[in-house]
Amino acid sequence: MSSENVSVGIHDLTFRTTSLQLTHAELARHTGVPLAKYHRGIGQQAMSIPAPDEDVITMAAHAAAAVVERHGPDRIRTLLFATETSIDQAKAGGLYVHSLLGLPPHIRVVELKQACYGATAALQFATALVHRDPDQQVLVLASDIARYDLDSPGEATQGAAAAALLVTARPALLEIDTPSGLFAREVMDFWRPNYRTAALVDGRSSVDAYLRALTGAWSDYRARGGTPLRNIHTMCYHQPFTRMAHKAHHHLLQQAGLPVDPEHIAAVLAPTTTYNQVLGNSYTASLSIALAALLDSATPLDGETVGLFSYGSGSVAEFLTATVRPGYRDHLRTDAHRAAVTDRRPISYADYRDLHASTLPTDGSRHATAGLTSGPYRLAGIHDHRRVYEATDPVGRSVSGAAPDGWPVP
Ligand code: HMG
Repeated sequence: MSSENVSVGIHDLTFRTTSLQLTHAELARHTGVPLAKYHRGIGQQAMSIPAPDEDVITMAAHAAAAVVERHGPDRIRTLLFATETSIDQAKAGGLYVHSLLGLPPHIRVVELKQACYGATAALQFATALVHRDPDQQVLVLASDIARYDLDSPGEATQGAAAAALLVTARPALLEIDTPSGLFAREVMDFWRPNYRTAALVDGRSSVDAYLRALTGAWSDYRARGGTPLRNIHTMCYHQPFTRMAHKAHHHLLQQAGLPVDPEHIAAVLAPTTTYNQVLGNSYTASLSIALAALLDSATPLDGETVGLFSYGSGSVAEFLTATVRPGYRDHLRTDAHRAAVTDRRPISYADYRDLHASTLPTDGSRHATAGLTSGPYRLAGIHDHRRVYEATDPVGRSVSGAAPDGWPVP
């Protein structure tokens, strides 16, 4: 296939999350915070909580398995794993997914990091690779667990999920357009030093940094010939909490000199927030999940231009658009997405705090995790400084790899 004038974009898109959730109603009962602050003030109803045997690898493998099952692995030449919840300083998390899914050996596998922006970088790199050789496909995985300290302002904005995107020529869902607008500025709004499992954040300044980056990326996009805002059907924003999207759209309308009406903003953004308002922040997966929610909504989008704003603290941002392919609805995974959200088991505040406090050993000692996931892959434990993953049957029982007592597994 010639690479000239070939359209490139997202051929398949899906997400998976954890098996457990904490509702904000349960959180409010114990924190004394008015529930309206969670529901209306930050726009969150619930957040995904990982079971002890779930992590960014198990969630990503779960999402990726659906994509590989539908399209086969043979044309995938690159697997890009974007995360800021990395499990290893050296080895790419995507290699565990590569192994769990039994992908062929002739694949380049790398991990990318820049806070919540990582998957957008991966999407653009994937697009460039496919333009160079339209016969190949790129599997982009975005997987994160948003974790803040207990009793901190960020606590109510935790969450977890993984998105899988297959980037190909002649995509079924969306073509990625040019140009895009970029913005980078070193800022300490949110970060996680290597020795911490929970992020540090200056909440108010992170909101300001997000909006400044939106201004910067938008003006670069327009300066490069990007389409006026009135020609964009719907905007999908990175959603650390869904009210952030409202703040962002308000800001962008002002930047573009368009009228600002909070009720109209709420109505146009509602189709993009249905999943994230119950999953919580999934960092680098959040924007893809906002896009999945829009595609799964009742709004017809054939041929329409969708705007995407990606922000990663620290900070890097990108503003881009995608054109929805006619007939995209035939390729959606709406039922699986709704099931991922509704199948989670609600947990009590006490169980949530116990889970938050329990971390994996860092001294290499043998550790077997409790088998709680309902997903198809689980983290069985740690042995000799190695994470051990295994496949499960549909109710989470181990079916491959060694049982946690049967160490070691290679
Ligand atoms: P906070 O101090 O808990 O809340 O921090 P607040 O006092 O700012 O109130 C939040 C909103 O609730 C306000 O609305 C209140 O008025 C309202 P606003 O003025 O913003 O429109 N409110 C109520 N509404 C109804 N009924 C009530 C009520 N009470 C108050 N009774 C904050 C909130 C978001 C700062 C905190 O949760 C936090 O630190 N979160 C983590 C940081 C974050 O999410 N930052 C977002 C931008 S940075 C980003 O997106 C990148 C990120 O994803 C990381 C990455 O890139 O990897 C975080």
